[in-house]
Amino acid sequence: MSRVAYVNGAYSPHSQAVVHIEDRGFQFADGVYEVWSVLDGRLADFDGHMTRLNRSLNELKIEIPMTPAALGVVLRETVRRNRVRDGIVYLQVTRGAAARDHAFPTDVAPSVIVTAKRIDLARGEAMAAKGAAGVTRPDIRWGRCDIKTVGLLPNVLAKQAARERGAYECLMYDEMGLVTEGASTNAWIVDREGRLRTRDAQANILRGITREAILKLVAAEGVELDERPFTVEEAKQAREVFVTAASSFVMPLVSLDGVRIGDGKPGPIAARLRQAYLEQARRDAI
Ligand code: PDD
Repeated sequence: MSRVAYVNGAYSPHSQAVVHIEDRGFQFADGVYEVWSVLDGRLADFDGHMTRLNRSLNELKIEIPMTPAALGVVLRETVRRNRVRDGIVYLQVTRGAAARDHAFPTDVAPSVIVTAKRIDLARGEAMAAKGAAGVTRPDIRWGRCDIKTVGLLPNVLAKQAARERGAYECLMYDEMGLVTEGASTNAWIVDREGRLRTRDAQANILRGITREAILKLVAAEGVELDERPFTVEEAKQAREVFVTAASSFVMPLVSLDGVRIGDGKPGPIAARLRQAYLEQARRDAI
């Protein structure tokens, strides 16, 4: 089956879907994006991602291209046309195409693209059951990581560093040695005292929607929470380390820079939170 993409008002074959060479997303990374997980053909955490999208657009003064309801129709139609039952749907909105000039152009319509792809959930489950490897690198990003922009080069380099070492994710750390987040995930540990720790979202990190959903589940799971950053060293000595994102839900890391975490197997808290998150995300997906 051939894939279909939505580009500025029309659906076209994925292989032929194009934007203009002077699209500001292409030339300046002047755009934002969102990723929803698709479970049973429905979108998980729909409102959370939509709210963050509107916030990102507002922060960058990019015109909101459509109402959330209209955008929801396009996202679902793209999922439907690609026959995605389990997978992700990707939305990108840029400031639009205009003659190259750093300052904002006037009278330009934002560009909107949507793609959807299938993901083999069984593969993710198998990885979560075994646990994945992680590496660490300094965080070299800008000061507005709360905006979900397509300017992802530092994240690309971090992820590549992980891949080159056969690892799944790279945790980035600031000048104090405190972990900020993963290249495409938020980072968590269960510390030596058994407290669940994740960096507070007021810091220069992405306010993950999966992170927020999990914070709401934590109390019900009877886990003590401490929204406080942790160092790379603390992570290496933690009982558990895991990362969260729409694309990976809750993924345990069982080693960091080759150092074994705990007993080298996924821990019970990550496993419980993964299950609880998936149950809730499936139930509430729309
Ligand atoms: N990444 N931190 C970063 C830097 C991210 O890129 C992401 C998401 C997250 C987790 O956010 P959420 O729970 O809202 O997915 C944290 C997406 C999945 C991506 O870039 O593909």
